[in-house]
Amino acid sequence: MATDTGFGFGFLVKQPYHPPSWASHLSPLPSYTFSLAHLPTPIHKWNLPNLPNKTEVWLKRDDLSGMQLSGNKVRKLEFLMADAVAQGADSIITIGGIQSNHCRATAVAAKYLNLDCFLILRTSKALLDKDPGLTGNLLVERLVGAHVELVSKEEYAKIGSVALTNVLKERLISEGRKPYVIPVGGSNALGTWGYIEAIREIEKQLHTVADSQRFDDIVVACGSGGTIAGLSLGSWLSNLKAKVQAFSVCDDPDYFYNYVQGLLDGLKAGISSRDIMNIYNAKGLGYAINTQEELNFVKDIAATTGVVLDPVYSGKAAFGLMKDMTENPKKWEGRRILFIHTGGLLGLYDKANDLATVVGNWKQMELHESLPRQDGLGKMF
Ligand SMILES: Cc1ncc(COP(=O)(O)O)c(C=O)c1O
Repeated sequence: MATDTGFGFGFLVKQPYHPPSWASHLSPLPSYTFSLAHLPTPIHKWNLPNLPNKTEVWLKRDDLSGMQLSGNKVRKLEFLMADAVAQGADSIITIGGIQSNHCRATAVAAKYLNLDCFLILRTSKALLDKDPGLTGNLLVERLVGAHVELVSKEEYAKIGSVALTNVLKERLISEGRKPYVIPVGGSNALGTWGYIEAIREIEKQLHTVADSQRFDDIVVACGSGGTIAGLSLGSWLSNLKAKVQAFSVCDDPDYFYNYVQGLLDGLKAGISSRDIMNIYNAKGLGYAINTQEELNFVKDIAATTGVVLDPVYSGKAAFGLMKDMTENPKKWEGRRILFIHTGGLLGLYDKANDLATVVGNWKQMELHESLPRQDGLGKMF
């Protein structure tokens, strides 16, 4: 947790963890963190078009929490990696989709800490025995030397992520290794601390960057539940008291209310997930599948505000938010909203073909034959 330090000092340092006073009754409390993220991430006003009357949207740039380690997962990894090291692990196992941002961040964090990394990635049956390629997150994972093992979506659905990671864990133990397993998305009770801690960061920023005012809502994408569990619990316990409005990009809301309840119970929080968050279904056509309307939206937001959303997570969440604002403007009128951009930009490269239909135009530059030469800086050729 390199809060207030940026990369200046405190990067890759193991530090004892002291929870915020309002979270000190939770249990278990983490003992250490490894500072992996570039924190605090900026908060700025986001001038989205067509907002309801007097509605303000602010953006928390967790997409800027690093480069190879960018996005929301790095906050969870600060706690999970410290635990892996404390347990004397020599390797990390985790699991996710073929373009999992979590797997990429885990692979990089593991290598920073001199741990080996094993990734189980879910792909389609037809591609199981083919080289998975080097697009987006895969390029980084393979460059840092993560061991990639592919399973089909059908195998994943039949066996489940826990049993799959167990198979790999047993194999590595039988080879004399000491693996540490991180669940899908880093979303367990320990990983939840990443976004409990982010609330402490937001509370401080409220006074320094956001006009010392309140936030009424925190809007964020939900993929495995850990981010919304930490945000909603932290916001509820602290003075922030903003309501988490989560937009689910894969499973349906009931699944996540229950999953988050398990995380809250795992921390002995004593509260109900349904009391501290609203979950909306923003899955659309399915996980990591986009409608043309969603792609157009991502392009329009980028072109009007300069903020590039990833179409799998924050793109769908922002699309869902704007849709709800159009359908129910009264509900959002006058609200101050903090939207968390959770990153995922490397995954954008996997969407290049889909986005080709919406990106800006190009043309060959028109040059007159008679244009005289003028020397500039550097001789490139
Ligand atoms: C870029 C991005 N945003 C949001 C999420 C969702 O976070 P969580 O898995 O904690 O629900 C994920 C991962 O699932 C992600 O990779």
